[in-house]
Amino acid sequence: MLNRNISSPAQLSEERSMLARRYGNVRAASAVLAAPLSDADATVQSMPDASPAKWHLAHTSWFFEAMVLAPNSPGYQLFDDRFGFLFNSYYESVGARQPRSLRGLLTRPALGDILRYREHVDAAMAKLLKQEPSEEVLKIIELGCHHEQQHQELLLTDILHLFAQNPLRPAYKESVPLPVESSERTTPNYESFPGGLADMGHDGCGFAFDSEGPRHAVRIEPYRLADRLVTNGEWVEFMSDGGYRNPLLWLSDGWAKVREEGWTAPLYWEARESGFWTMTLRGAQPIDLDAPVTHVSYFEADAFATWSQRRLPTEAEWEVAAQSLPVTGNLLNSGRLRPKPAPAATGGLRQMFGDVWEWTRSAFMPYPRFRPIPGALGEYNGKFMSGQFVLRGGSCLTPEDHVRATYRNFFAPHARWQFSGLRLAEDA
Ligand SMILES: [Fe+2]
Repeated sequence: MLNRNISSPAQLSEERSMLARRYGNVRAASAVLAAPLSDADATVQSMPDASPAKWHLAHTSWFFEAMVLAPNSPGYQLFDDRFGFLFNSYYESVGARQPRSLRGLLTRPALGDILRYREHVDAAMAKLLKQEPSEEVLKIIELGCHHEQQHQELLLTDILHLFAQNPLRPAYKESVPLPVESSERTTPNYESFPGGLADMGHDGCGFAFDSEGPRHAVRIEPYRLADRLVTNGEWVEFMSDGGYRNPLLWLSDGWAKVREEGWTAPLYWEARESGFWTMTLRGAQPIDLDAPVTHVSYFEADAFATWSQRRLPTEAEWEVAAQSLPVTGNLLNSGRLRPKPAPAATGGLRQMFGDVWEWTRSAFMPYPRFRPIPGALGEYNGKFMSGQFVLRGGSCLTPEDHVRATYRNFFAPHARWQFSGLRLAEDA
């Protein structure tokens, strides 16, 4: 959580105005992302794991209404007192809600009503921010901004999943031809790390989610990390070598999924006469063999690593390697909306931030001395620490000011609709 060691009224006032700007920017960015969508695009739910865009836009507003305005803004009038039921996601301590798998049945309120709901919340938030809210309230507003940025990425991955079900393969953004890549295909280099005792986790300076801390020591064996992500070209080799047909490469739960769901390639791939194509936010596109593979589950990433006679990194290995690197890469702000081939090797790790979330072999578990924050917001992360694996580094849909080296994303091991890929590791 926010921890700035605010020591003076002047500093608190500066924090308030910075946060007011941040709030405005984040809320405006959601509206920009939703602009290409019709009411129908924003209403349909393509699977229980995905939510309608309209729901994302409303739920993020409900978060500010329920967590910030209702408890802290005397006289605040709810936009509609039925919306709490519709747009509460999973907060048991806040109240009953529309079942997750039935969010797509909400043809009403219409998209226009949701946009008016957003304006209502924004006006009340602007008023509150002028009334000098306490440091405690500022912390929740900052959390709400990061929460909304998480939903911006989900809004896009959920729209991609929805559009991929449509035989017309609609493009969310105009289709842009892929640049001609003349890069020479090379195997990745492996960077060595010495192992020993290292510190990981957030140090409490600046914003982080509760699950990123506390900072603590970990003991790591010497290891090597690939200097780039696994590519589509390498994935084609895995497929050609019978990767999806050899049970010896797979975890038992993974092999069960391969058989149950008939997996033969990453999600969205389709074999055409000209080769493999995939669905992107810019419509159907030929696979770029040099770009990082994406839309693979933990099970697939693990099978690929086994086939490569290597392994996935642990989250500690990933974080120790990343903590001195700048947070730059192919993130949402690039506007590309797709992973991009690695830049030429110049020594050092490439693609650590952006392109695809990197599966680690670490379960999403509490760090030593972790305590969820008190109250309803304690439900934000802690209760999901079961049956999920950690992914690191952000993707081509992650807002640039939302990710950091300590950031722990997490998904179930069979999930494929996020921009999830992998980087290989090995013991040194
Ligand atoms: Fe949420």
